[in-house]
Amino acid sequence: MPIELYRDSRHACLMFTDLVDEDNQAVQANQFLIVDNGTGAVIDPGGNLAFNELFLGMSRHFSPQKLSYIIASHADPDIIASLDRWLTSTPAQLVISRVWERFVPHFTKVGKTDQRVIGVTDGGGRLPLGRNELWLLPAHFLHSEGNFHFYDPISRILFTGDLGVSMTSGRDAQVPVSDLKEHLRLMEGFHRRYMVSNKVLRLWVRMARQLDIRMLVPQHGAPLEGPAIGQFFDWAESLMCGIDLFDDRHYQLPTTAIPVPERAVSMA
Ligand SMILES: [Fe+2]
Ligand SMILES: [Fe+2]
Repeated sequence: MPIELYRDSRHACLMFTDLVDEDNQAVQANQFLIVDNGTGAVIDPGGNLAFNELFLGMSRHFSPQKLSYIIASHADPDIIASLDRWLTSTPAQLVISRVWERFVPHFTKVGKTDQRVIGVTDGGGRLPLGRNELWLLPAHFLHSEGNFHFYDPISRILFTGDLGVSMTSGRDAQVPVSDLKEHLRLMEGFHRRYMVSNKVLRLWVRMARQLDIRMLVPQHGAPLEGPAIGQFFDWAESLMCGIDLFDDRHYQLPTTAIPVPERAVSMA
């Protein structure tokens, strides 16, 4: 069942946290549905593992024919690998960075993306949704080269894709975190390796602090609310990550064999 992050008579934000089987090898991921005055958008709908449940969940709130957009923060498999099925089952347009516009047709059958992709330039913008709008904020290199976050001015939720994520179960992802202290151990390793640099984090924090944010909601793990939002900004601003941590030791010709399971060797 989805979590209602926000609801009033005309506008709702739903989060699905457990559509991917916990025993599966795939990382836990959240998918989002925003409904405004009877039309909607899915944000980061994920791969084929999540499609059926998310599609059914959406159909309970409005007809799939009323889906305006499939919005992708970037082009990773856990974000948009189900694109072919969404384009087949709904009339929605894909909204994605122009950096990825000509790469996403590789996710679909030939011709499926014709006239169906809105490529967004690096500055982002305000996307009409129902009678309101969704803001696309630049979040490039956090972690993907062409990357947007989504701010909903009605619910005051900032959807941050892979930034602010924590490695948890689908169940734990349903409980918002209001104090970051204990939560950081679930965040730190991911951010150090997947985020590109401290410079970009500082630029992003400077922009994000200008927003009135009730909840910061990542694509993996639990939402942040209350004091945890400011704590996250402080932490992110000072975090060394990605290329800050790489030097010549990380670029050496390899000397050790990669362990290969017995089965793969015998099949060769
Ligand atoms: Fe990603
Ligand atoms: Fe992700």
